[in-house]
Amino acid sequence: MIRTFSSRAGRLSATNKHYLNLNSSCVLSQDYKLKENSKEILLDIGFGDGISLSEDIEKYKDILFIGIEPYKKGFARMVEFYEKNHPNNLLLYNGCAKDFIKSLECKVKYIRIHFPDPWPKKKHAKRRLINLNFFNLITNILKPEGLMQIVTDSYIYQEHIQEVIVQQKFFEIISNYPIGYAVSTFHKKGLEKKHNIKEYNLKLSRN
Ligand SMILES: C[S@@+](CC[C@H](N)C(=O)[O-])C[C@H]1O[C@@H](n2cnc3c(N)ncnc32)[C@H](O)[C@@H]1O
Repeated sequence: MIRTFSSRAGRLSATNKHYLNLNSSCVLSQDYKLKENSKEILLDIGFGDGISLSEDIEKYKDILFIGIEPYKKGFARMVEFYEKNHPNNLLLYNGCAKDFIKSLECKVKYIRIHFPDPWPKKKHAKRRLINLNFFNLITNILKPEGLMQIVTDSYIYQEHIQEVIVQQKFFEIISNYPIGYAVSTFHKKGLEKKHNIKEYNLKLSRN
């Protein structure tokens, strides 16, 4: 399978290593079977350093957020946040979202992908997470009328996403997504560079 993320681990501090090795109750293993939950589930794919995720879980306590991130340093920081605050609406998976989705046995109401790695060079375009195969994959785990939000400041990725949206037949574009979000690290970078930030809000209409 083509990897959509770089192998950067970031220099792990002793604190990062401590939280990675902790066996925290918020961490989902590869073979974890998610039980039915009274809360609607939101998958936050590629939460990075978790700055926005940690604010959003405080604001939307009736949503169960599952943060998915292969980047170990960001993941460790989010485990640390969990251990210090014990929110009851956060679970974390350290790995690739495609693997997680393939083994997920329940349906989710929301997916969000904020500032996915744009892989702007043409020769790397196949490493972009968002493509027709990915759209097909998520139709298996979204509830009927489930919602997906993609946000990016990359003009090249915006053009790419627009092409994928035109090609696919499962989602319709909607104007509003009911779950807001705090400004993330990559969102802030985009604002500082005065990039045009675009949101794609999609509703599953057929699968
Ligand atoms: C540009 S960063 C954005 C991070 C954060 N969402 C933000 O807005 O600051 C993209 C993140 O997506 C993660 N990522 C890339 N491929 C992924 C995949 N297949 N599954 C989950 N996360 C992935 C990367 O590790 C990286 O942390």
